[in-house]
Formats: sequence, C-alpha cells, structure tokens
Amino acid sequence: MSVRGRIILLFTVFNIVIVIVRPFDDVIKLGRRGPDDCKPVVVAHRGASGYVPEHTLGAYALAITMGGDYVEPDLVMTSDGHLISRHENELSHTCDVATRLEFADRYSTKNVSGRIVKGWFSEDFTLAEIKTLRAVEPLPLIRPGNARLDKAYEIPTFQEIIDLVKALEVSENRTIGIYPELKNGLYFQRLGLAMEEKVVEIFHKNGYIGKNAPVYIQSFEVSNLKKLKKMTNLRLLQLYTVSRNQPFDQAELGTGLTYLKMATAEGLANVAEYAEAVGPEKSYIIPRNFLNNLGSPTRFVKNAHAVGLQVHPWTFRAENVYLPKEFQSKGSLFGFGDLEGEIKVFLAAGIDGLFVDQPDILIRIRGQCKN
Ligand SMILES: *[C@@H]1O[C@H](CO)[C@@H](O)[C@H](O)[C@H]1NC(C)=O
Ligand SMILES: *[C@@H]1O[C@H](CO)[C@@H](O)[C@H](O)[C@H]1NC(C)=O
Repeated sequence: MSVRGRIILLFTVFNIVIVIVRPFDDVIKLGRRGPDDCKPVVVAHRGASGYVPEHTLGAYALAITMGGDYVEPDLVMTSDGHLISRHENELSHTCDVATRLEFADRYSTKNVSGRIVKGWFSEDFTLAEIKTLRAVEPLPLIRPGNARLDKAYEIPTFQEIIDLVKALEVSENRTIGIYPELKNGLYFQRLGLAMEEKVVEIFHKNGYIGKNAPVYIQSFEVSNLKKLKKMTNLRLLQLYTVSRNQPFDQAELGTGLTYLKMATAEGLANVAEYAEAVGPEKSYIIPRNFLNNLGSPTRFVKNAHAVGLQVHPWTFRAENVYLPKEFQSKGSLFGFGDLEGEIKVFLAAGIDGLFVDQPDILIRIRGQCKN
C-alpha cells in the first residue's frame, strides 16, 4: 500500500523515528478515483483547449467536467515573481495586450531561449497588470467557436488553478491531477525570476508532497529537472520535441546532448535517473511517411518502459489539419476527423497517456477505470 499525504509530525522515541502522515483528504474518502487510476491517462492539454480558449479557468473546468485526469497549465513569470499560465511569455497571441494603449510602450524584441521574438512579455508586467488583460483564442481560424469566447476569461495564476482543481474535486468526487510545464526555465533563471523554487513551494504549501501526489512537473530543458529532483519528490517528466536539436540549456552548457540522443535506449536510461515519465512529440512513437500517413512504431515506448518511464506523447487534436491522412474526414481542414482512430493506433503502440485538446473524445473510447 502506498501512503499519499503530508508529514505532520516527526519525532524519535528511543532512537526510533516515528513519522505521522496525514493522508490527502481525498484518500481518506476510501476508494476515491485518482488521476492515475484509468488507462490511458488523459492529460487535458492547456485545458479542454479544443473547445475554450487555452489556459483559462474555463478551459480547465471544462476539461475536468469532461472527465480529464490531469489539467496541463504552462507556466511563465510576471515581473513581480508570480506564476501565471500562458503558453508563451510573449502574450499577444493569447490575450488582448496588443490592443491596450496603456501597454503600447512595453512592446519589445527579445531573445527567448535562442529565438528572436517581438511582442509583449510576461516578465515586463506585474500580476496586477496581467489581471487587467483578457484571454483570446490563439487559433481563431481553426477554432472559431473558441474565438466567440474571446475576452471572456482572465489569465489565471498557478494558485487559482490549484484552487479550481480542489473545488471541482469535491463535485467530481475524484482526485484531479495537475501537470504544469515550466516554460523557458533557463531564460527566467537568468532574469532572476527562476520558476523551479516557486512551483515546488506552491505545490508543497497546497499539500502536494511526494511521489504519490497527483502531479507531474514537465520541461523541455534538462538542468532544471535535475535541479527539481534535488528539491522535491514530486514526479518529473522530460519533454522531447523535433523542432529543436538540443534542449536550450544543454546548448548553452555546450554538452552536445540532443533530443535524439535522449531518445535512444541509453538516453532514456539517463532520463530515468531523474524523471518518472517522458513526453515525446508523437512522431518519436510513430513517425508519418511522405504521404502523411502513420508509419511503423519506433522502439521508443519499449525502451522507455524498460527503464521504468511512463510515456505520454503530445499532442492529439481532432481537426483534420492535425490528423494523419488516413484519419482525416472529407470537407474542411478544420472539421473533425477520426481522432479515435489515430488514438487507437498509438494505444496499440503501448503508450500510457496522451496530451489531448479534446479530452472527451479520448475518455469516450478508453476502457473501464479501476474505480
Ligand atoms: C465518492 O466515490 C466513492 C468511491 O467510488 C464512493 O464510495 C462514494 O460514495 C462517493 N461519494 C459521493 C458523495 O458520491
Ligand atoms: C540568442 O541567444 C542565443 C543563445 O544565448 C545566441 O546563441 C544567439 O546568438 C542569440 N541571437 C541573437 C540574434 O542575438
């Protein structure tokens, strides 16, 4: 049996260490379902971002009421050291900042993790200023329904997301997981706005402690995950992309470590030293051929499982434009195709969980849960 909870008392009697652990409230209610009790695990990517503008309390709440196991906030920092949820520190694609005259002079050009970016940056705004902005849909052409909710929501803080999760755990009668990604770790460290300590402090303060807490912390970088490993027992997840050769921190350190090396059997064994799971871009599991059809599975899942890593690839999206050719439907590029079909092929390849923009579709096709 595993004990999930927080240590409330620790003392010694005749040299024997006595530890009293108070379980999470949810575990006291025996048998309450947790986010790892169903297979595959449903990671609601940026919330139910297929239906509501991403990284808003509306998107997270919908993901939870649809049955998602984990909500997946991306985290960046404000100038006064608050964690907020945005996909990028550049804000203009996901909120109304570009139309706000009072912030016109904050427009700037920066080198963010090696890429030149123009716009308005979270680290140049206080939380109070961020709270005057309203979220908008970053893909209005693909997701016009979402765009109808433009400016309906604020930009949430990490703590507000935890509060939402804890509130909905009561009505849902299950434990809901939180799966934050630290965006541009090294970049924020260099600004004196490191996120790692903050995330751990907020999780611990809210009672999320230890390996059994319903949490994964993810990053595309490596050094920050290794640093987190020393700070907390919360579970960590190494992300992999095909859009960069090397993790940005590794390029800066000049280590020569690439994502492709990290995807070999030996590379995965090294990742397993600090992480419990890996989040590869889908093509690491099943690449597409030149006709845009799915090809054959690689050895990635087998090699990851051999060293005890869970595998949660990203991102599964129902619109035709994102699907392999054989699962596209006739008609609009932005209409829904057969996401169920694509997911089934990936499940057959042995994956343990998925990042998905339409969590309801994955929940519809997965089997019975333990509880
Ligand atoms: C919550 O779920 C547990 C486990 O399935 C069940 O025993 C309990 O009755 C549920 N409580 C409520 C209030 O529905
Ligand atoms: C951006 O930063 C990277 C990494 O520090 C550096 O290699 C690159 O030259 C910079 N680009 C520009 C245009 O300054």
